[in-house]
Amino acid sequence: MEEQVFNRLVLAWIVLAIALMPIQLFVTAPYGRHISKRWGPVIGNRLGWFFMEIVSPTVLLAVLFRNGVPALGAVWICVALWLVHYMHRAFIFPLRTRTSGKHIPLVIVLSAVAFNTVNGWTNGFYLGSGWADYSGWLDDPRFIIGIAVFLAGAGINLWADSRLIALREHGETHYAIPRGGLFEKVSCPNHLGEIIEWCGFAIACWNLPALAFAAWTAANLVPRALSHHRWYQKEFPDYPADRKALVPYAL
Ligand SMILES: NC(=O)c1ccc[n+]([C@@H]2O[C@H](COP(=O)([O-])OP(=O)(O)OC[C@H]3O[C@@H](n4cnc5c(N)ncnc54)[C@H](OP(=O)(O)O)[C@@H]3O)[C@@H](O)[C@H]2O)c1
Repeated sequence: MEEQVFNRLVLAWIVLAIALMPIQLFVTAPYGRHISKRWGPVIGNRLGWFFMEIVSPTVLLAVLFRNGVPALGAVWICVALWLVHYMHRAFIFPLRTRTSGKHIPLVIVLSAVAFNTVNGWTNGFYLGSGWADYSGWLDDPRFIIGIAVFLAGAGINLWADSRLIALREHGETHYAIPRGGLFEKVSCPNHLGEIIEWCGFAIACWNLPALAFAAWTAANLVPRALSHHRWYQKEFPDYPADRKALVPYAL
């Protein structure tokens, strides 16, 4: 495929993320606390997360090597960040969640498989293409800042998900008000951390597919955080009034 055609396809993918965001503000993705029977057949939550998330590293690796093994360290660092994130999300996160007896609609799993296929493909294809000149990139401020932002976001995301998971004992399925750290400022620091993480990745890679993935992550998680926040306010009359949904003091 020619670079120009590839770039046009990825730009169209970014436009789709922006176009779908207003819809996601009104139609809450029906999984976790928002699950509803109206969305058809379901599968076990853990299995669903595994299927959704294993696609992304698999597709990325499948297209990365089509021109041989990338020689540059910077490409390998970006690939390693992607793989570590998704290996954790596919294997460790589902096993850690206290989700006994809970399900996820098949339609969510299939749409996430499609989403992860496109993002794994575009990012793997570009990083394996040799189109970008990443020589000397290890010392570039964009790479160094991007990696630092990625790691900060990943740290926030992991910390917040761990805190949420720890709100339940094994076998429990109820919800409680999360407290402490960033949870005193926002309802969904895990989603905030994930958005920061992929913005960092986009800065470190400085390419369109990584920007597209950051845009999609925000398009998915800004509406989800707003839905979670409204849900907390409805379910818990004593929910802290000064807590925002996603961005401290702002949103
Ligand atoms: N890149 C992307 O586009 C994208 C899209 C979606 C998700 N993600 C990431 O995937 C991870 C999971 O996403 P999510 O939206 O499912 O997160 P979530 O709704 O915050 O749930 C995370 C885990 O904590 C549990 N939990 C959440 N709030 C709780 C509470 N108040 N009391 C007790 N348990 C609680 C959930 O249980 P239940 O499942 O039973 O609710 C689930 O096991 C996050 O790190 C998110 O950033 C990324």
